[in-house]
Amino acid sequence: MVGEIRPDELRVDIGRLSRRIDELGQIGRIDGPNGEWGNARLALTDEDRAGRDLVVGWMRDLGLDVRIDAIGNVVATRAGSDPDLAPVMCGSHIDTVGTGGRFDGNLGVLAGLEIVELLDEHGIRTRRPFQVAFFTDEEGSRFAPDMLGSLVFVGGMPLEEALDVTAADDHSRLGDELVRIGYAGPVPCPTATPPHYFVELHIEQGPILEDEGITIGVVEGVQGISWTEVSIEGRSAHAGTTPMRLRRDPAYCAGALATFVRDVTRRLGGDQVGTVGRIDVYPNLVNVVPSRVVVAVDLRNTDDRVLQEAERLLHGYLDDLAADEGVEITTRSLARFEPVTFDAAMVDRVEHVARRLGHSSRRMSSGAGHDAQMLARICPTAMVFTPSVAGLSHNIAEFTEPDDVEAGANVLLQVLLEQLEPAT
Ligand code: GLV
Ligand code: MN
Ligand code: MN
Repeated sequence: MVGEIRPDELRVDIGRLSRRIDELGQIGRIDGPNGEWGNARLALTDEDRAGRDLVVGWMRDLGLDVRIDAIGNVVATRAGSDPDLAPVMCGSHIDTVGTGGRFDGNLGVLAGLEIVELLDEHGIRTRRPFQVAFFTDEEGSRFAPDMLGSLVFVGGMPLEEALDVTAADDHSRLGDELVRIGYAGPVPCPTATPPHYFVELHIEQGPILEDEGITIGVVEGVQGISWTEVSIEGRSAHAGTTPMRLRRDPAYCAGALATFVRDVTRRLGGDQVGTVGRIDVYPNLVNVVPSRVVVAVDLRNTDDRVLQEAERLLHGYLDDLAADEGVEITTRSLARFEPVTFDAAMVDRVEHVARRLGHSSRRMSSGAGHDAQMLARICPTAMVFTPSVAGLSHNIAEFTEPDDVEAGANVLLQVLLEQLEPAT
C-alpha cells in the first residue's frame, strides 16, 4: 500500500509497462537494418508458446487465478469482494503476424497486468472480479479466420471446427499444435461466464491519429472483413519451349487478380480496401510455368452492402479469368465478419474519460480486426486506440510513443475502474 490515493487519481507506471512490452518483444525478435525491431510469434508456434509462458508467469507472479480454455485462450482473474458479480474484462492477443511489431495486441494485455499491479500496490479492492485475457490466434496469418480464439470464446464457431483448422504454412492441425505447445486447457469454450463488460486497448495501426495530432481514438466499431482463398490450377510446362498461346498459366492469373483487386477498390471508392497478401506458387521455380497458385484476397469495408458488391465483382472476375486462360479456379472463404458497432454507452464512457484526463480524442472506426469485435457479441464492449508512428503496423517498424502508451493505458484504467466499483 503506497499511501492514500483516490481511484480516479490512479495512473499507470509507464516504465513498468514499457519494460514488459520490451521483454515480451524479445521473444521471436526481428531486427531491421535501421534499429527498428519487432517480432514473429505466429499462433501456436514455439515462439508463441514462449510468449505465452512469459505472460502466464507474470500473471501468476501477480497472484492471479490463471485459467486456460479448450482453444488456448488464457483468462487471469483478480478476485472481487463480491464473487457473484460478473467480471470486468480487458485484454487482447499476444500472437503476431510473421513481421509483427511489439505493440499490436501485446499492449492491451500488458496494460491489463499493469493495472492489476497498480491496484495491488495501492491496496485497492474492487467489488467486481477483474480479468485480463489473451485470446488464441487473433492474427489469423497461420490459422484462418482471424480472431479465432475470441470467436470460439463467444460461441461464434464450434470448438471442434476450430480445432480442425489447418495451418497455412505447414498444414498442421490447430488442435494438435495446441496440445504440442501445452495450451489445450481444461476450461470449456465457449465461456459459461460472459464478462460484465470488455475493454480493449490497442494501437491504431493506421495514420489518422498521428496525422491529426490526436492522442486517443474512441472506437465506434470495426469494419467488415472478407478473406477468400483462390486456388488456380493450370498446367505445368517448360518456360522456354511452350508457346504463349498454349499456356494455362496460374501465375499470370494471380498477377491479373492482384491488379483486379486494386481496380475494384478504385471502382467502389469510399472506404473499400483490398489486399493480396499471400501468393503461394507451386512448384515455384524460375523456369517452370506453375501448375498451381494459391492467392489470398482480403477485402474490407465499413458498409456491408459495398463489401458484398466487392465480393460479387471478385467472383464474377474469377469466372471470366478461368474461361479466358483455361485454368480451373476454386474459392474458399477463410473469414467473413460483418461490420460491428460497439455499445453506444461504452463509447461515450471512453470519450468522457479521455476528456477528463485532458487528452485530445476523436471517434473513429477500426480498419483492423480485433478480439473486441467478437466480445461485443456477448457483452457491452469498447476499444481505446493510441497513435501509431507513421501509421505503421504489421511491420517491425511499428512504434507508439511512450507518452501515448501511457495516455491510452490511463484511459483504459479509468474506464475499467468505473465499472469495477473500487473501495480503497
Ligand atoms: C487482424 O488483426 C487483421 O485485422 O488482419
Ligand atoms: Mn491486434
Ligand atoms: Mn495484428
